[in-house]
Amino acid sequence: MTSSTTMPGDRPIPTGVQLTALDPAFREDPYPILKDMRERAPIHHDTELGRWIFTRHRDVNDILRNPNFVSDPRKANSGTFSAEFLMRDKDAEPSMLLMDDPGHRRLRELVRRPFAPNAVEAWRPRTREIARRTVAAIEDGEFDLIDRVANPVPTVVIAELLGIDSSKHEQFKTWSGQMIKVAFTPVVDPADLATAQLAQENMMEFFREEIELRRRKPGDDLISHMVHTVKDGDRLSDNEIVSQCDLLLLAGNLTTTDLIGNGTMALLRHPDQQAKLRKRPELMKKAVDEVLRYDSPVTNSGRIVHEDTTFDGITIPRGESLSVSLAAANRDPAVHADPDRFDIERENTSLQSFGGGTHYCLGSHLSRMEAQETFAALLDRFPSLSFGTGGHEYAANPSFRGMNYFWVEGKA
Ligand code: HEM
Repeated sequence: MTSSTTMPGDRPIPTGVQLTALDPAFREDPYPILKDMRERAPIHHDTELGRWIFTRHRDVNDILRNPNFVSDPRKANSGTFSAEFLMRDKDAEPSMLLMDDPGHRRLRELVRRPFAPNAVEAWRPRTREIARRTVAAIEDGEFDLIDRVANPVPTVVIAELLGIDSSKHEQFKTWSGQMIKVAFTPVVDPADLATAQLAQENMMEFFREEIELRRRKPGDDLISHMVHTVKDGDRLSDNEIVSQCDLLLLAGNLTTTDLIGNGTMALLRHPDQQAKLRKRPELMKKAVDEVLRYDSPVTNSGRIVHEDTTFDGITIPRGESLSVSLAAANRDPAVHADPDRFDIERENTSLQSFGGGTHYCLGSHLSRMEAQETFAALLDRFPSLSFGTGGHEYAANPSFRGMNYFWVEGKA
C-alpha cells in the first residue's frame, strides 16, 4: 500500500478541500469519491490540509480505539490539521472532545450519568410530546423539514435537558449555528469568525448566569447536575461547565438535526423502505441505525499520533494528524454487504458514526431516541410524505453532513 496524492492510474487522487463539504461535488454526494479513495488510496496523505485520511473500516475502527492515538491538538505538530484548525482559541478551556486522560476521564465521569441509556429512556415521553407537538403545528402541504422539524426538536430537547427557559431556545439555535460554521473547518470567512466569536462570548456569559442560578437553587436539569456533582471530593469549575455546555450544544444540536434531515431524505428516496417502516413501526430502532450508517451526520473524526506508527508499511511520525472517515468506513463492503443499499432491516453491529474508544459519543442514546420519536411523529402526522418542489441544499460544513433546507410535502 502506498500513500501519495498521485497514485498509479490515470485519475489523480482528490485531496485537501476536495475531500470536504466545501467542495460542491463532495458536498452533494461524497460516497462515490470515498469509495474510490478506499479502493485506490485507503491511507492518503493530504498534504494540503496536513492530515492522513483513512477510509477502510478496519483502520478507522482501530485508530479510534487505540490509546496510541490521542486527541489534544496541543500534541500535534504545527502545520497539521489538528494543530491549525481544531482549537482556534488557544486560551479557551478545551472541551472533553479535545482532551486526553486523565483530564478527559475526569470530565467525562462528572458529566456522564444523564446520558446513560436508562436516563435517556426517562426522557422519551417528554421527547415524544415535543416531537408530536412540533409536527402537529404543520399544515398539510409543502414545508421545509429542516426549519419546521429537524431544527426545533433537538434544540428544544437539549435546552430542556439543560434546564433553559423556552424563550431562549431560538437564541440557542442561532448561537450554535454561528459557532458550528467555523468549527473543524480549514477555510473560514473572517466575518463568520467574528460572528462566531461574539456568539461564543454571549453564550458563555449566558451559561455563567445559569450556573449561578443553579448554585443558589438546584433543579432537576443537566446544568444543576454539573454544578452539584462531586466525585471523590472533585467537582467541575465554572469554566469547565461552560465548556461542556458549549460542546453539548454544538455536538448535540446540529448532529441530531442532520440525522433527522438525512433520515427523511433516505426514506423519501426509498419509498419501499418508508412503506415498510409505516407497516412495521417496530423496525424504528434498526431504521435509525441504518440512517446513521447510510448517511452519517458526522463524516470524520480525528486523532493525533502519539508514537511513530506504521500502517501497511507506511510510518507516520509522532505529532501527525489522522482523519478517519466515518462515512467511508460505514460503507466499506468488507464489513457491510452491499453497502450502498439502504435497508432498514440491516443488522448494524459495527457502526462508526459515533466514533469509538474513550471518546465514543456521549449523546449516542439521546440522539437515537430523539430521531426515533421524530420519525414516528412525522410518519403518523403525514400518511403521505414525499418530495416538495423547493428542493434541498447540503451545508458546507466540513466533518458534518446535513442540509440547510429540504422541502417536502405532507398530506393527511
Ligand atoms: C446523530 C447525532 C450524533 C452523532 C452522529 C455524533 C457523533 C459523535 C462523534 C463522531 C464523536 C467523536 C467520537 C470519537 O472521536 O471517537 C462525538 C463525540 C461527542 N458527542 Fe456526539 N454525536 C451525536 C449527537 C450527540 C448528542 C445529542 C450529544 C449530547 C447532547 C453529543 C455529545 C457528544 C460529546 C460530549 C462528545 C465528546 C465525548 C468525549 O470526548 O468523550 N453527541 N459525537
